[in-house]
Amino acid sequence: MTRPNTTPVTPGPAAAEQQVPALVVDGVTVRFAGLTALDQVAFTVAPGSVHALIGPNGAGKSTTFNVLSGVYRATEGSVRFGDAELTALAPHRIAALGVARTFQNIVLTGGTVADNLMLGRHTLTRAGFTTTALRLPSAGREQRRHRERARELAEFTGLGDSFDTPVALLPYGDRKRVELARALCMEPKLLLLDEPVAGMNTGERVGMARTISTIRDALGISILIVEHDMGLVMRLADEVTVLDFGRRIAGGTPQQVQQDPTVIRAYLGTGSTDGAGDATDHPQEDAR
Ligand SMILES: Nc1ncnc2c1ncn2[C@@H]1O[C@H](COP(=O)(O)OP(=O)(O)O)[C@@H](O)[C@H]1O
Ligand SMILES: [Mg+2]
Repeated sequence: MTRPNTTPVTPGPAAAEQQVPALVVDGVTVRFAGLTALDQVAFTVAPGSVHALIGPNGAGKSTTFNVLSGVYRATEGSVRFGDAELTALAPHRIAALGVARTFQNIVLTGGTVADNLMLGRHTLTRAGFTTTALRLPSAGREQRRHRERARELAEFTGLGDSFDTPVALLPYGDRKRVELARALCMEPKLLLLDEPVAGMNTGERVGMARTISTIRDALGISILIVEHDMGLVMRLADEVTVLDFGRRIAGGTPQQVQQDPTVIRAYLGTGSTDGAGDATDHPQEDAR
């Protein structure tokens, strides 16, 4: 089901008060016992842009996300986000700098949509456990403020009617939206989306694509997206970086990349196997 995103949303602090810095990935290499998953990868996500990271299965896309979010440590290279060097930081420190991510496979807790979104607000909650446990009035006010913002972002992402619904009862496409909304609840400057439409039907894909472009336009944040759906990448991305076997083999506008012989060869070379390994995740590359 396709939903219009007509709900206006207040830009978060990223766009309102702080500059959204560029993300500069430079010479990043990741080695796992004998295997080079990333080899001197470099690209820049311009402030406020949608940047797509594409490539055949095993190219190193998820590994890149894991380096950017602090889950994996780079063997070499640097990742700068404004003045901060991210490669030395733990995941929670990176999140606190305004880098939020979703995962290739849904990672939601039990409870309602609201519960999951409030987890996203948690990184911003100044009232610690003590204040909350003592039931100080300030903690109550802060909770209410966070809940209002969570509701606003739920409406913005098309989940307004499901705010108090247990996530377990939601259709798959809406659960993917909960992940997205939860990441937005962290008021990120940079949003990392790992296959946000994987497993969705065509209607859900179109709706999600619309939501993603609305996020960029309304919130003014940068988005780095890993996606197999070429149609979606071509429609959404301002710039594309192509990985193959851990190397950056091409980059540029969607049109440039689409016509690049190296890219065509990389995709043709693995054309029969790409998607076969996780066919359930990728119904088929959607041409829309
Ligand atoms: N934790 C890990 N340990 C060992 N090898 C890994 C690990 N994570 C990823 N790899 C390997 O790194 C390569 C890139 O994987 P990945 O980043 O998941 O690719 P993609 O997301 O582009 O499909 C693959 O060969 C994969 O098997
Ligand atoms: Mg992956």
